[in-house]
Amino acid sequence: MKVTDLVNLDSYPIQDIQSPTAQALVTKCRQDLDKNALCTLENFVSPETLMVMKTEIDDLLPSAYRAEHERTPYSWRYNLDFPDGHPRRALHWNRYGYLLYDQFNKMALISQLFEWPPLTEFVRQVLGFETLYRTADPYLSIVANIMQTGDELAWHFDTNDGVVSLMLQPADEGGHFEYAPYIRDEVDENYGGIQKLFEGSSSLADQPAIEAGTFVLFKGRRSCHRVTPIGQTTHPRVNILYSFDERPGMVFSQASQMEKTQPKSGANVGLTSRT
Ligand SMILES: [Fe+2]
Repeated sequence: MKVTDLVNLDSYPIQDIQSPTAQALVTKCRQDLDKNALCTLENFVSPETLMVMKTEIDDLLPSAYRAEHERTPYSWRYNLDFPDGHPRRALHWNRYGYLLYDQFNKMALISQLFEWPPLTEFVRQVLGFETLYRTADPYLSIVANIMQTGDELAWHFDTNDGVVSLMLQPADEGGHFEYAPYIRDEVDENYGGIQKLFEGSSSLADQPAIEAGTFVLFKGRRSCHRVTPIGQTTHPRVNILYSFDERPGMVFSQASQMEKTQPKSGANVGLTSRT
Protein backbone atom coordinates (compact mmCIF):
# COMPACT_ATOMS: atom_id res chain seq x y z
CA MET A 1 0.00 0.00 0.00
CA LYS A 2 1.44 3.39 -1.00
CA VAL A 3 1.33 6.16 1.58
CA THR A 4 -0.83 8.24 -0.76
CA ASP A 5 -3.42 5.43 -0.64
CA LEU A 6 -3.80 5.80 3.13
CA VAL A 7 -5.65 9.10 3.22
CA ASN A 8 -9.01 9.76 1.60
CA LEU A 9 -7.49 12.34 -0.76
CA ASP A 10 -10.75 12.88 -2.66
CA SER A 11 -12.28 14.47 0.43
CA TYR A 12 -9.03 15.71 1.98
CA PRO A 13 -6.56 16.64 -0.81
CA ILE A 14 -3.77 17.56 1.60
CA GLN A 15 -1.05 16.31 -0.75
CA ASP A 16 -1.73 19.48 -2.76
CA ILE A 17 -2.06 21.85 0.17
CA GLN A 18 -2.06 25.07 -1.89
CA SER A 19 -5.06 23.97 -3.98
CA PRO A 20 -8.29 25.92 -3.37
CA THR A 21 -10.02 22.78 -2.00
CA ALA A 22 -7.25 22.11 0.49
CA GLN A 23 -7.10 25.74 1.55
CA ALA A 24 -10.89 25.76 2.10
CA LEU A 25 -10.42 22.68 4.27
CA VAL A 26 -7.70 24.42 6.31
CA THR A 27 -9.97 27.43 6.80
CA LYS A 28 -12.90 25.25 7.90
CA CYS A 29 -10.69 23.36 10.37
CA ARG A 30 -9.37 26.60 11.85
CA GLN A 31 -12.92 27.89 12.28
CA ASP A 32 -13.95 24.66 14.02
CA LEU A 33 -10.99 24.89 16.39
CA ASP A 34 -11.71 28.54 17.18
CA LYS A 35 -15.38 27.81 17.88
CA ASN A 36 -15.35 24.32 19.41
CA ALA A 37 -11.67 23.64 20.26
CA LEU A 38 -12.18 20.50 18.15
CA CYS A 39 -11.94 19.62 14.47
CA THR A 40 -13.06 16.16 13.31
CA LEU A 41 -12.38 14.85 9.81
CA GLU A 42 -14.50 11.74 9.24
CA ASN A 43 -13.34 8.96 6.93
CA PHE A 44 -9.89 10.52 6.82
CA VAL A 45 -8.33 7.13 6.14
CA SER A 46 -9.78 4.45 3.88
CA PRO A 47 -11.55 1.33 5.25
CA GLU A 48 -8.66 -0.80 3.92
CA THR A 49 -6.14 1.34 5.80
CA LEU A 50 -8.19 1.04 8.97
CA MET A 51 -8.24 -2.74 8.68
CA VAL A 52 -4.47 -2.94 8.26
CA MET A 53 -3.84 -0.49 11.11
CA LYS A 54 -6.08 -2.51 13.43
CA THR A 55 -4.09 -5.64 12.55
CA GLU A 56 -0.88 -3.77 13.41
CA ILE A 57 -2.33 -3.01 16.84
CA ASP A 58 -3.65 -6.54 17.37
CA ASP A 59 -0.22 -8.02 16.62
CA LEU A 60 1.35 -5.82 19.33
CA LEU A 61 -1.33 -6.20 22.01
CA PRO A 62 0.64 -8.77 24.05
CA SER A 63 3.45 -6.23 24.49
CA ALA A 64 1.25 -3.24 25.41
CA TYR A 65 2.14 -1.22 28.49
CA ARG A 66 -0.42 -0.64 31.20
CA ALA A 67 -1.05 2.49 33.31
CA GLU A 68 -3.30 2.68 36.37
CA HIS A 69 -3.07 5.73 38.56
CA GLU A 70 -5.11 8.62 39.88
CA ARG A 71 -4.32 12.14 38.75
CA THR A 72 -5.51 15.69 39.23
CA PRO A 73 -6.67 17.64 36.20
CA TYR A 74 -3.71 19.96 36.90
CA SER A 75 -0.94 17.46 37.53
CA TRP A 76 1.85 19.74 36.30
CA ARG A 77 1.03 22.31 39.01
CA TYR A 78 1.43 22.38 42.76
CA ASN A 79 -2.06 21.54 44.02
CA LEU A 80 -1.65 20.67 47.66
CA ASP A 81 -2.31 24.21 48.94
CA PHE A 82 -5.94 23.83 47.90
CA PRO A 83 -8.56 22.48 50.33
CA ASP A 84 -10.14 19.04 50.05
CA GLY A 85 -13.02 19.11 47.59
CA HIS A 86 -11.48 21.83 45.44
CA PRO A 87 -11.12 20.94 41.73
CA ARG A 88 -7.36 21.42 42.05
CA ARG A 89 -7.31 18.52 44.52
CA ALA A 90 -9.79 16.30 42.65
CA LEU A 91 -8.49 12.85 41.75
CA HIS A 92 -9.76 10.80 38.84
CA TRP A 93 -8.58 7.46 37.50
CA ASN A 94 -6.41 6.85 34.49
CA ARG A 95 -6.68 3.21 33.46
CA TYR A 96 -5.49 2.27 30.00
CA GLY A 97 -3.05 0.29 27.90
CA TYR A 98 -0.77 1.76 25.27
CA LEU A 99 1.88 1.10 22.64
CA LEU A 100 4.81 3.40 21.86
CA TYR A 101 6.52 4.49 18.64
CA ASP A 102 9.50 2.16 18.99
CA GLN A 103 7.21 -0.86 19.13
CA PHE A 104 5.90 -0.27 15.61
CA ASN A 105 7.63 -1.64 12.55
CA LYS A 106 8.99 1.16 10.30
CA MET A 107 6.74 -0.15 7.53
CA ALA A 108 3.61 -0.09 9.69
CA LEU A 109 0.94 2.13 8.17
CA ILE A 110 0.47 3.76 11.58
CA SER A 111 4.10 4.98 11.35
CA GLN A 112 3.98 5.76 7.64
CA LEU A 113 1.01 8.09 7.97
CA PHE A 114 2.79 10.01 10.74
CA GLU A 115 5.98 10.24 8.67
CA TRP A 116 4.23 11.44 5.52
CA PRO A 117 5.34 15.11 5.12
CA PRO A 118 2.02 16.46 3.74
CA LEU A 119 0.33 15.47 7.03
CA THR A 120 2.72 17.66 9.04
CA GLU A 121 2.21 20.58 6.66
CA PHE A 122 -1.57 20.24 6.88
CA VAL A 123 -1.46 20.16 10.68
CA ARG A 124 0.91 23.16 10.70
CA GLN A 125 -1.46 25.25 8.61
CA VAL A 126 -4.52 24.27 10.66
CA LEU A 127 -2.82 24.99 13.98
CA GLY A 128 -1.29 28.18 12.60
CA PHE A 129 2.36 27.57 13.50
CA GLU A 130 5.26 29.26 11.67
CA THR A 131 7.07 25.94 11.69
CA LEU A 132 6.03 22.44 12.67
CA TYR A 133 7.97 19.17 12.78
CA ARG A 134 7.27 15.64 13.84
CA THR A 135 8.74 15.14 17.27
CA ALA A 136 11.87 12.99 17.19
CA ASP A 137 11.13 11.07 20.37
CA PRO A 138 11.82 7.36 19.89
CA TYR A 139 9.03 6.42 22.30
CA LEU A 140 6.44 9.18 22.55
CA SER A 141 6.15 10.49 18.99
CA ILE A 142 3.37 7.97 18.49
CA VAL A 143 1.27 6.66 21.38
CA ALA A 144 -1.57 4.23 20.69
CA ASN A 145 -4.06 4.27 23.55
CA ILE A 146 -5.81 0.94 23.95
CA MET A 147 -8.76 0.81 26.34
CA GLN A 148 -10.70 -2.26 27.47
CA THR A 149 -13.85 -2.69 29.56
CA GLY A 150 -13.50 -0.69 32.79
CA ASP A 151 -10.73 1.56 31.46
CA GLU A 152 -11.07 5.35 31.49
CA LEU A 153 -9.00 8.51 31.07
CA ALA A 154 -9.19 11.07 33.87
CA TRP A 155 -10.46 14.62 33.48
CA HIS A 156 -7.53 16.90 32.70
CA PHE A 157 -6.21 19.89 30.82
CA ASP A 158 -3.30 19.52 28.39
CA THR A 159 -0.17 21.60 28.85
CA ASN A 160 -0.15 22.49 25.13
CA ASP A 161 -2.72 23.01 22.41
CA GLY A 162 -2.80 20.94 19.28
CA VAL A 163 -3.34 17.25 20.02
CA VAL A 164 -3.50 15.26 16.79
CA SER A 165 -5.14 11.85 16.78
CA LEU A 166 -6.68 9.17 14.62
CA MET A 167 -9.56 7.11 15.99
CA LEU A 168 -9.00 3.53 14.86
CA GLN A 169 -11.82 1.88 16.74
CA PRO A 170 -14.39 3.10 19.27
CA ALA A 171 -15.73 0.77 21.98
CA ASP A 172 -19.16 -0.85 21.67
CA GLU A 173 -20.29 0.92 24.85
CA GLY A 174 -18.86 3.96 26.64
CA GLY A 175 -15.37 5.28 25.99
CA HIS A 176 -16.72 8.60 24.76
CA PHE A 177 -14.48 11.60 24.41
CA GLU A 178 -16.12 14.20 26.68
CA TYR A 179 -14.97 17.79 26.93
CA ALA A 180 -15.89 21.34 27.87
CA PRO A 181 -14.62 23.68 25.13
CA TYR A 182 -12.71 26.70 26.43
CA ILE A 183 -14.10 26.26 29.96
CA ARG A 184 -11.27 28.38 31.31
CA ASP A 185 -9.52 31.37 29.80
CA GLU A 186 -6.12 32.95 30.27
CA VAL A 187 -7.14 34.82 33.43
CA ASP A 188 -10.16 32.98 34.87
CA GLU A 189 -9.68 29.35 35.93
CA ASN A 190 -13.48 29.02 36.39
CA TYR A 191 -13.18 26.51 39.23
CA GLY A 192 -16.96 26.72 39.79
CA GLY A 193 -17.58 25.60 36.22
CA ILE A 194 -14.98 22.84 36.55
CA GLN A 195 -16.69 21.57 39.71
CA LYS A 196 -20.00 21.36 37.81
CA LEU A 197 -18.27 19.48 35.03
CA PHE A 198 -17.01 16.86 37.48
CA GLU A 199 -20.48 16.61 39.02
CA GLY A 200 -22.03 16.01 35.60
CA SER A 201 -24.08 19.21 35.57
CA SER A 202 -22.09 21.45 33.21
CA SER A 203 -23.96 22.87 30.24
CA LEU A 204 -20.63 23.06 28.41
CA ALA A 205 -20.02 19.29 28.50
CA ASP A 206 -20.18 17.63 25.10
CA GLN A 207 -19.61 14.09 23.84
CA PRO A 208 -19.12 14.37 20.07
CA ALA A 209 -19.43 11.09 18.18
CA ILE A 210 -16.01 10.11 16.83
CA GLU A 211 -16.22 7.19 14.43
CA ALA A 212 -13.47 4.85 13.28
CA GLY A 213 -11.25 6.53 10.70
CA THR A 214 -11.78 10.07 12.03
CA PHE A 215 -8.75 12.37 12.22
CA VAL A 216 -9.04 14.78 15.13
CA LEU A 217 -7.31 18.03 16.05
CA PHE A 218 -7.99 19.35 19.52
CA LYS A 219 -7.08 22.32 21.68
CA GLY A 220 -7.00 20.93 25.21
CA ARG A 221 -5.08 23.58 27.12
CA ARG A 222 -8.23 25.46 28.09
CA SER A 223 -10.72 22.64 27.40
CA CYS A 224 -11.02 20.10 30.21
CA HIS A 225 -11.52 16.60 28.80
CA ARG A 226 -11.62 12.89 29.54
CA VAL A 227 -12.59 9.52 28.07
CA THR A 228 -15.62 8.05 29.86
CA PRO A 229 -15.40 4.50 31.25
CA ILE A 230 -15.49 1.73 28.66
CA GLY A 231 -18.56 -0.51 28.97
CA GLN A 232 -19.05 -3.99 27.57
CA THR A 233 -17.19 -4.26 24.31
CA THR A 234 -16.04 -7.03 22.00
CA HIS A 235 -12.89 -5.09 21.06
CA PRO A 236 -10.74 -2.37 22.65
CA ARG A 237 -11.12 1.33 21.95
CA VAL A 238 -7.98 2.29 20.01
CA ASN A 239 -6.91 5.89 19.46
CA ILE A 240 -3.56 6.88 17.89
CA LEU A 241 -1.85 10.08 19.08
CA TYR A 242 0.71 11.77 16.82
CA SER A 243 3.10 14.30 18.32
CA PHE A 244 4.41 17.46 16.61
CA ASP A 245 6.43 20.42 17.79
CA GLU A 246 7.47 23.85 16.54
CA ARG A 247 11.14 22.93 17.02
CA PRO A 248 12.95 20.34 14.92
CA GLY A 249 14.29 17.26 16.68
CA MET A 250 12.13 17.67 19.81
CA VAL A 251 12.53 14.84 22.31
CA PHE A 252 10.45 14.68 25.49
CA SER A 253 12.12 14.90 28.90
CA GLN A 254 13.61 11.76 30.37
CA ALA A 255 10.99 11.96 33.12
CA SER A 256 8.17 11.96 30.56
CA GLN A 257 9.75 9.04 28.71
CA MET A 258 10.19 7.06 31.92
CA GLU A 259 6.61 7.74 32.99
CA LYS A 260 5.55 5.85 29.86
CA THR A 261 8.28 3.21 29.57
CA GLN A 262 8.34 2.40 33.30
CA PRO A 263 4.78 3.10 34.41
CA LYS A 264 4.13 3.04 38.14
CA SER A 265 0.86 2.78 40.01
CA GLY A 266 -0.08 5.52 42.43
CA ALA A 267 -1.41 9.04 42.64
CA ASN A 268 0.00 11.95 40.71
CA VAL A 269 -1.41 14.68 42.90
CA GLY A 270 0.91 17.54 42.11
CA LEU A 271 4.53 18.29 41.45
CA THR A 272 6.78 19.23 44.34
CA SER A 273 7.93 22.37 42.57
CA ARG A 274 5.71 25.42 43.05
CA THR A 275 6.88 27.14 39.90
FE1 LIG B 1 -5.41 15.40 26.97
